[in-house]
Amino acid sequence: MLSDRFGRSIDYLRLSVTDRCDLRCTYCLPKGFKGFEEPADWLNFDEITRLLAAFARLGTSRIRLTGGEPLLRRNLPELASRLASLPGIRDLSLSTNATRLDRYASALKEAGVSRINVSLDSLDREQVMQITGHDSLPKIMAGLMAGKAAGFSPIKINMVAMQSLNDEAIDAMVEFCMEQGFVLRLIEAMPMGKTGRGAAFLDLGPVQARLKRKFGLQEQAAEIGGGPARYLTTEDGRCSIGFITPISQHFCATCNRVRLAVDGTLYLCLGQEEKFEFRPLLRGGASDAELEAAIRAAIELKPQQHTFREAPMKIMRFMAQTGG
Ligand SMILES: C[S@@+](CC[C@H](N)C(=O)[O-])C[C@H]1O[C@@H](n2cnc3c(N)ncnc32)[C@H](O)[C@@H]1O
Ligand code: SF4
Repeated sequence: MLSDRFGRSIDYLRLSVTDRCDLRCTYCLPKGFKGFEEPADWLNFDEITRLLAAFARLGTSRIRLTGGEPLLRRNLPELASRLASLPGIRDLSLSTNATRLDRYASALKEAGVSRINVSLDSLDREQVMQITGHDSLPKIMAGLMAGKAAGFSPIKINMVAMQSLNDEAIDAMVEFCMEQGFVLRLIEAMPMGKTGRGAAFLDLGPVQARLKRKFGLQEQAAEIGGGPARYLTTEDGRCSIGFITPISQHFCATCNRVRLAVDGTLYLCLGQEEKFEFRPLLRGGASDAELEAAIRAAIELKPQQHTFREAPMKIMRFMAQTGG
């Protein structure tokens, strides 16, 4: 089992398969952004599979495909299938904006992806256009319904909640998720890059208290998915709302994850600079034993916590470049 200097077990890897995206969410990528990695620098499927097999031998059991927009990576179901069948991997999931999910949902399900998270910040078409920079709501809805039909379970909706932008859209989203059987997760915007810093912070503490009263929600005893969200559920236990509060109440003490960017850079924390480059090792003939030793050395670099509150100007890279 991999564990870091602070005794945390690291068993979860988020894999960014591309840093590109077809949307430009205001809190994530700037309009007109073109500073993406060169495809020649992207790890290919053989390199990714070999590296993740080494992680799995050291105890990584969960992988999430993310990006940028992961469905822009050609032949993603093939990669998914290779990763799902690695010994030791027991959970493969996907984060997507869903604009292309109607095309790929069945193939991804068959490949072994069991759960999906879909980003959706409002149900109002104009507001979604304002936030994502495109008239994307119809495509997102088609993708979501295709995901449901393909049998992904659970489907979680990730909604970045922002003051005076989509805060009034929260209640309608709660009702929509209750109707559809989706798990809603409300997320505080993080100051990553100038886009993240430009997002109007909304403290989810008071929102949580208000939703609790309005929808009769109760604290959930067991966590769902072992992640940072704290969940409330309806009395009958059928609907859950998660709160991801990196700013108002951080959860670094139980952090169990690292992020591998498309160019083979392992980021040890979203909110810090520590990183380790795997591409030179993979392309320089490193043995499996050397890869494993490098992974252990990289995990040693994991910092204790982010400093988004104390040093909000620190992280220049955008979320899509790290693999959110
Ligand atoms: C970077 S996206 C990548 C996957 C996919 N494109 C998507 O949108 O789900 C992953 C998650 O990061 C979130 N995200 C992006 N920038 C953020 C920020 N500055 N603060 C908080 N969450 C952010 C998005 O809302 C999304 O749920
Ligand atoms: S949050 Fe996801 S969909 Fe939105 S710009 Fe970032 S990577 Fe693209």
